[in-house]
Amino acid sequence: MSVTTRPELSVGENITRLIPYCPGKPIEEVKRELGLTEVVKLASNENALGPSPRALEAMREAISRVHHYPDGSCHDLRAAVAAHLGVPDDHLIFGNGSDDIIHLLGVTFLRPGDEVIQADVTFTRYEAAAILNEAHCHRVPVRDWTHDLEAMADRLNERTRLVFIANPNNPTGTMVTAAQVRAFLRRVPERALVVFDEAYYEYVDRDDYPQTLEYVREGRNVIVLRTFSKIYGLAGLRIGYGIARPEIVSFLDQVREPFNTNLVAQAAGAAALDDAEHVRRTREMNAAGRKRFYEAFDALGLSYAPTEANFVWVDVGRDSRAVFQALLQRGVIVRTGDIFGAETCLRVTIGTAHENEKFLGALKEALTDSGF
Ligand SMILES: Cc1ncc(COP(=O)(O)O)c(C=O)c1O
Repeated sequence: MSVTTRPELSVGENITRLIPYCPGKPIEEVKRELGLTEVVKLASNENALGPSPRALEAMREAISRVHHYPDGSCHDLRAAVAAHLGVPDDHLIFGNGSDDIIHLLGVTFLRPGDEVIQADVTFTRYEAAAILNEAHCHRVPVRDWTHDLEAMADRLNERTRLVFIANPNNPTGTMVTAAQVRAFLRRVPERALVVFDEAYYEYVDRDDYPQTLEYVREGRNVIVLRTFSKIYGLAGLRIGYGIARPEIVSFLDQVREPFNTNLVAQAAGAAALDDAEHVRRTREMNAAGRKRFYEAFDALGLSYAPTEANFVWVDVGRDSRAVFQALLQRGVIVRTGDIFGAETCLRVTIGTAHENEKFLGALKEALTDSGF
């Protein structure tokens, strides 16, 4: 009998510190596990109206061409996004979701010992990029669930390389204003690159929201991230992009995989951009759902952060994991705050009117019936 010896494999200490991303629970898994027929998922800030019909049509056409490699330069999508935003096409970098660009930013710009600044709480992939590249990540506590840009500016120094500002923030839905961003940028040293992650940009309807593309046009060390995963309803395709001056884009281009966005996603993205009606309907649904959530949370005496996005961060005042389980039993999947270090908070995506009512009914039952 032969004995197989296992050769020893070791990885860097930084790799052992990476925590795998914890995605929202899939609907089918919950149905199977709990024997439920109807399950609603309000856990991943997806668009409950689904993909844009125009994008669906473009996808159907594109699948007949998938024996070909995609256009690595994203020519057609690039032209569509450039026209949509009014920026030159050499100001764009595309990725397999904006996650891919966050990863690329880390690999491209961070060296061991560099520093990264982010809020605490915020999107978890920024810290992962820092850890992977052996940079130190400063987590600056949010104030009133909002990025505290003054405190973040106090952490800037000559070693700061990347600053991540999710605006609106995930998981809190809050935003920083144009005036706050302007004041912050005055304090940023030359060597640092500021990343405005605007995954929920299309949901915002506040006049004081910063127009960060102006900083890109001024040639500053700024990159703006946007995605087709949220309002455009294409999360499953994985396509997002960054807008920055050409020098920054070409560094990222040197590092990215040659075919880091797929052919179907490129076609769908370009078509979705044209679908103003789908965006309008989604915004309308979201505004109505947000109002309904606020009323219901007020009636239940729960505090929440004011949201500019398609989800609400609500403090349920008790262990959110227990509330999560009680909601799950009733066929509703949300996100617990513990993964963000906020034990009593839940993040719930705003869905269709039907999904919202199912969630609110289940929440009321969970908070009143289960003896918490
Ligand atoms: C703030 C923020 N940035 C980036 C992402 C990643 O989006 P994508 O699907 O484009 O990778 C998300 C997704 O939830 C997000 O909330």
